[in-house]
Amino acid sequence: MKRVLLASLILSGFALSGEFTLKKPPESLKKYYPPQSEKFEFLNNMHTMSTAFYAVQLNINDGNWEKATQWAKKLVETYKKTAEMVPEWKKYFDFKKAEAYLKAVESKNVDSVIKASQELGKTCAKCHQDNEIAVKIYYRFPNFSEIKIEDPVEFMEYELEDFMVKLTRSLQALNVYLSQNQPDKVQEHGMNFVERARAVKEMCSKCHTDKRDVEAITGKDYDQALNTLEELLNAEKPDFNKIKQITAKVTLTCYTCHNVHYIPSKIKSAFSK
Ligand code: HEC
Ligand code: HEC
Ligand code: HEC
Repeated sequence: MKRVLLASLILSGFALSGEFTLKKPPESLKKYYPPQSEKFEFLNNMHTMSTAFYAVQLNINDGNWEKATQWAKKLVETYKKTAEMVPEWKKYFDFKKAEAYLKAVESKNVDSVIKASQELGKTCAKCHQDNEIAVKIYYRFPNFSEIKIEDPVEFMEYELEDFMVKLTRSLQALNVYLSQNQPDKVQEHGMNFVERARAVKEMCSKCHTDKRDVEAITGKDYDQALNTLEELLNAEKPDFNKIKQITAKVTLTCYTCHNVHYIPSKIKSAFSK
């Protein structure tokens, strides 16, 4: 029975509660992430601790207390080293709880191990609750505010955010003139939209080296939809219904791309302000 208990009680990962805030992570972490370091020292310690936690559990279940103790030592050692890496976060670490955990494993008493791992695990969970998401976005997601796009309509270079607004304005103007039944304006703003929507693709290769990533969102279907829209706009008597249908198809792509990139990008830029 105890074995099952141990397996289910030792912490795994973390859970965010109903409400949480994202705080800009401390600068001292910078040393352990690109571009300053490609080694991800801080993240690697997390993996070491998590693996050690589980290794203790596995070995206790196997009755191998000697190995369990070795892993517990490794966990405590890494825990202490990690505390030194980010001075701003000292308060999250509880060395007494770490020592108590090691003692519990050394004592070969399963009940004490369960209790002590929960106690130690809570210190991990508290820090994760407060910081994990923010760190993942701040240090591991690229900076979209450095991305510039050449606007094919105004022949000017814009930051991504401003370009997105231009793109949206073209789309809105197209919709407005469609509803007002003004074919000339539909044609003008529709073509601006097509050109801007094509230019969106230029930025992908600034981050993605694998063509399949680009194809997954702005692939052949996207190109084809924009070509069709262009043909419809240039027709002698533009078919407004077809234009609306194909435009709706193109805008689905906007959402797909936003689902992947928009949220982290917005959070990251909020940290830099
Ligand atoms: C890379 C994939 C991508 C595609 C495709 C894309 N967007 Fe965006 N869009 C973004 C990102 C990233 C941001 C956030 C930029 C920032 O940090 O402000 C954004 C921001 C926006 C914004 C908010 C701008 C602001 O004021 O902050 C609008 C509006 C927008 N996009 C509209 C569109 C429309 C309309 C389309 C399709 C025609 C589209 N986007 C296609 C990635 C994309
Ligand atoms: C002082 C804060 C802090 C403490 C204490 C802490 N962590 Fe973390 N942990 C983090 C942060 C920040 C991340 C996100 C790092 C990243 O994704 O680059 C993280 C991520 C992780 C991850 C996910 C790694 C991944 O690949 O996404 C694991 C697993 C983990 N921690 C295990 C632990 C364990 C086990 C403990 C306790 C023994 C612990 N952590 C204690 C801050 C902490
Ligand atoms: C500023 C950098 C940046 C730009 C620009 C960018 N992406 Fe991404 N994209 C990312 C990151 C980061 C991820 C998360 C996965 C990762 O780390 O590779 C991602 C994920 C994706 C994914 C999910 C699949 C995967 O490989 O993880 C697709 C598909 C994708 N991007 C397509 C696009 C397309 C299409 C464009 C251009 C319209 C684009 N991206 C522009 C950085 C970028």
